[in-house]
Amino acid sequence: MTSSDQTTASPDVAGGSILSCENITKSFLGVNALNGATFDVPKNKITALIGPNGAGKTTLVNILSGAMKSDSGTTHLGSVDVTNWESYKIARMGLMRTFQLSRELGGLTVLENLLVAPKVQAGESLFNIFFRPRLQRREEQQNIERATEILATYGLYELRDNRARELSGGQKKLLEISRGVMAAPTVFLLDEPMAGVNPALIDRIGGYILDMKRQGMTVLMVEHNLNVVEKICDFVIVLAEGKTLATGRLSELRANPEVVQAYLGEVISASTTN
Ligand SMILES: Nc1ncnc2c1ncn2[C@@H]1O[C@H](COP(=O)(O)OP(=O)(O)OP(=O)(O)O)[C@@H](O)[C@H]1O
Ligand SMILES: [Mg+2]
Repeated sequence: MTSSDQTTASPDVAGGSILSCENITKSFLGVNALNGATFDVPKNKITALIGPNGAGKTTLVNILSGAMKSDSGTTHLGSVDVTNWESYKIARMGLMRTFQLSRELGGLTVLENLLVAPKVQAGESLFNIFFRPRLQRREEQQNIERATEILATYGLYELRDNRARELSGGQKKLLEISRGVMAAPTVFLLDEPMAGVNPALIDRIGGYILDMKRQGMTVLMVEHNLNVVEKICDFVIVLAEGKTLATGRLSELRANPEVVQAYLGEVISASTTN
């Protein structure tokens, strides 16, 4: 990434960036949701994307994952320019995302939700179905084993045969994460993975995200809860009005008057009045 007056150089990124975006813009019917967002996401770290409501965080996740096209700017995964690639191609490159509002398939079971999660499946090609049925059956069996292991890891094993629509809000968040993990991503974008869940589950999900890092994944998570950011995130990107306001460690950002004025002051006063 070229130097920019919007960002602060950080030693975390010096270790290597795996995902980056530069000067991303996006408007909806004349409303500028993104206005030149620029940042690097350090490899094998947990990075928080924070900022006020409407700052453009979800829009950025949509653009980085290929769910939405930007108006201008570039995105890179490693050294590959993936600007405005289709989401299935970006998934094949190893990037998965979760949605702010869970998108489970309510009529399918919990296990089936993982089996139909986006991934590169050799078994799905017509050639394999007709000419290599044994290979396809073996893959299906491996997928079921993998899905079952993931459900056990995320505490959903007992619910594997329940319809997804019967799950609680917190369980739906866990299912959303499990579906992404099924594809074994190298970069995982989580859009408010803990929103609306109880404090015990917040801690559990925090533990799962730390495990993802231990396993070598890079995580970029949209998060409003600064206690969570403080506990598990290595690096923070602050977005305000569609621009990168600052990047760095949370402790550095707490000392940045611009960031405090744009966002942290509001969040800190909200948390003390609640
Ligand atoms: N599909 C859309 N059509 C029209 N406007 C949109 C659309 N998606 C986002 N916006 C607008 O773009 C701006 C940024 O929205 P976005 O959802 O990215 O913010 P956010 O930072 O994720 O907010 P929150 O913290 O509330 O989730 C907002 O003004 C929003 O109303
Ligand atoms: Mg959002």
